[in-house]
Amino acid sequence: MVKKLTEKTDYIGVFDSGVGGISVLRELVACMPNERFLYFGDSANAPYGTKPKEQICQLALNNAKLLMGYNVKAIVVACNTATAVAIDLLRQTYPDTIIIGIEPAIKPAVQRFPNGTLAIMATPATLQGEKLQRLMAQNPHSNLVKIPAPGMVELVEAGLSDSPQMDAFLHNLLDPYAGRLDGLILGCTHYPFAVRSIRRVLGEQTVLFDGGAGTARETRRRLAEKDLLSQGKGEVVIINSSADKSVMQLCNTLLTEDHHG
Ligand code: DGL
Repeated sequence: MVKKLTEKTDYIGVFDSGVGGISVLRELVACMPNERFLYFGDSANAPYGTKPKEQICQLALNNAKLLMGYNVKAIVVACNTATAVAIDLLRQTYPDTIIIGIEPAIKPAVQRFPNGTLAIMATPATLQGEKLQRLMAQNPHSNLVKIPAPGMVELVEAGLSDSPQMDAFLHNLLDPYAGRLDGLILGCTHYPFAVRSIRRVLGEQTVLFDGGAGTARETRRRLAEKDLLSQGKGEVVIINSSADKSVMQLCNTLLTEDHHG
């Protein structure tokens, strides 16, 4: 349930370029039901993944500053692109704050299919980033294909995650892989909302991996380490930079409705 923000408290701040990070927020709430979450979606500036690095850094800094203004006790960067490009800068800027960034779930995919065929779908900025090269070097695999998906974030932002338009987009992108992938790593937090469409195109046999649940567990571990977990009543507050009123409705839908079944 989304409530209006009325006062400063020790929320866990969460941000993304738009509505995609709500896929991580859902995992955070499931993992820590007693916490209060303040989610900021920067839909006015989405997508980030096709922007220059400097601009992504500036946007990530703006988002963190906004959340810090609400006394958040931790920040979860629920955006693979912002993590890939700006997490070091954020940690340098706020050295006393717990800052967790989502990363593509390469490790579990490689462990599950050490000899299989894998692909990672993400934004151009994530796929070009050094962080991904490092993650791939730590989890070597001889058959991991990179699939950039510019344009997909815009469809999710438009509320078209499960639609003929998404099917057409994904057919164009993924038809060469249909029936041939053991696993697909969803390297952008918008993509879990398009799971039905992805399955229609790739088939049911491909296992989908996303980093949301792992990010939530890591957040809980880091808060527990500092004795910062709350025992109170959980709450979710969502704010967004877009003036478009339909965005809040979309946020509610993405937060509450089943998008896998
Ligand atoms: N949800 C963001 C991510 O995880 C989308 C980036 C974008 O806005 O292009 O990468």
